[in-house]
Amino acid sequence: MTTSISRRGFLAASSALAATAALPRLARAQAAPLTLTATTHVIDVDGRAATVNTLRNGNGGQGLILDPGQRFRVDLTNALAEDTIIHWHGQIPPNVQDGVPGLPLPALAPGEMRSYDFEALPGTHWMHSHISIQEIGGLAAPLIVRSKRDLAADRQEVVMFLDDFAFRPGAEVLEAIFGAAAEEGANMGGANMGGMSMGAMPGMAGAGMAPDLNDYEFDAYLANDRTLSDPEVVRVERGGRVLLRVINSAAATSFWIDTGAAPGRLVATDGHAIEPVSGRRFGLAMGQRLDIEVELPGTGAFPILALREGARQRTGLILATPGAPVGRLAGLGETDSPAFDTDLGQEGMLRAAVSEAGGPPAPRPADRTLAAVLQGSMRPYVWTINGQAWGDHRPLEARAGERVEIAFRNLSMMGHPMHLHGHVFQVVSVNGRAIGGALRDTVYLPPMAAVTVALDAGEAARWALHCHHMPHLAAGMMTEFAVAPGSA
Ligand code: C2O
Ligand code: CU
Repeated sequence: MTTSISRRGFLAASSALAATAALPRLARAQAAPLTLTATTHVIDVDGRAATVNTLRNGNGGQGLILDPGQRFRVDLTNALAEDTIIHWHGQIPPNVQDGVPGLPLPALAPGEMRSYDFEALPGTHWMHSHISIQEIGGLAAPLIVRSKRDLAADRQEVVMFLDDFAFRPGAEVLEAIFGAAAEEGANMGGANMGGMSMGAMPGMAGAGMAPDLNDYEFDAYLANDRTLSDPEVVRVERGGRVLLRVINSAAATSFWIDTGAAPGRLVATDGHAIEPVSGRRFGLAMGQRLDIEVELPGTGAFPILALREGARQRTGLILATPGAPVGRLAGLGETDSPAFDTDLGQEGMLRAAVSEAGGPPAPRPADRTLAAVLQGSMRPYVWTINGQAWGDHRPLEARAGERVEIAFRNLSMMGHPMHLHGHVFQVVSVNGRAIGGALRDTVYLPPMAAVTVALDAGEAARWALHCHHMPHLAAGMMTEFAVAPGSA
């Protein structure tokens, strides 16, 4: 899972690339597609074996890493005993290849193979089943598309793939959340006011208007399938520079990334360059990615931790220079970490920059502004967009090529990472303050916040727009961005 590109490895990689580039076009076009298999494997979680879902590549590893300019040309096989469908989160494939059940294609039956072929967008992306219980069960993997700049940069790339893990199957996790909500709803006799949740689930502290941070106690928090009892140790050069590609694949957990003794620089969000921001702690919600450049201060072992928001649980990996002793780290911190970005302090300070994946759209007035009001409650466990759940939803409509602004407003006491398929958007306003914010595909709405994003409507098709908190999505927190053909 770790891309360790040392200086030597980098030279080898770039000469391999040069060789590829020198091949006649036809030969390259005929190169065999990559393969990807949805299957299961066994991992060890704190000494206990667990069978989890995974996406295997042709070399037996997880996920995919593409070279600059390489197309996403993949044959996906479903080796599971149930239907599945994979979404290429962060990519903009033709709608027919997007990977949401019924939008437009059905899921793949067991044993079925489907071919994909589209131009890949550079950056730190990922892929996952678009069936909530399978995503909760870990059917997800990194999808990294390296840019020319990545190849030229003298830095080691390290993927940090985060997950919240339960020994019970995803369906049971969901049942537990929905079931506990139903029970409490009955006990509370309608104390749920104005669509706001008035407390927390069993096991959580807090009452009144306190935000609900975490609604399920997972069994473990994983970085690259491991916990801090046996973390991944990545060998790095003394004083070297590392690019951490952090992906939050968790079903229902936001994390803070803490680079500890090694100063960090946030350089991209959701695969898109931003003006670098220095710091040692950056957060990310479900579905989001952060690229953080880390400078190693000399020799030693440097833990990179991911702290579960509002709690003591943590996971992570260790960057260690040759020969450095690696100490043990507890899976619980001393104190609860803060809630993630409640005041949009992090989001509000990000500014888009230009990269090989593109730059911010040129400012122009919106052709239309669409409202997306987020509501819901823990009891009953109901989450809606514009008052409706998926199935009863009214699509948000636009025409191809139009400049569209989507004004999200969260009227609930839980945060919602809102993800739009088929588009990259720019955050242009946080809590009423206009900014030239980050380019993203998933933006986090803390409780009671407002965020507006701008985009140019893409392919005329039905694109999913949903909360990336899997239990919320499973409860119906999804609508569609329906793009009609442009008028030209
Ligand atoms: Cu990452 Cu619609 O999902
Ligand atoms: Cu949500």
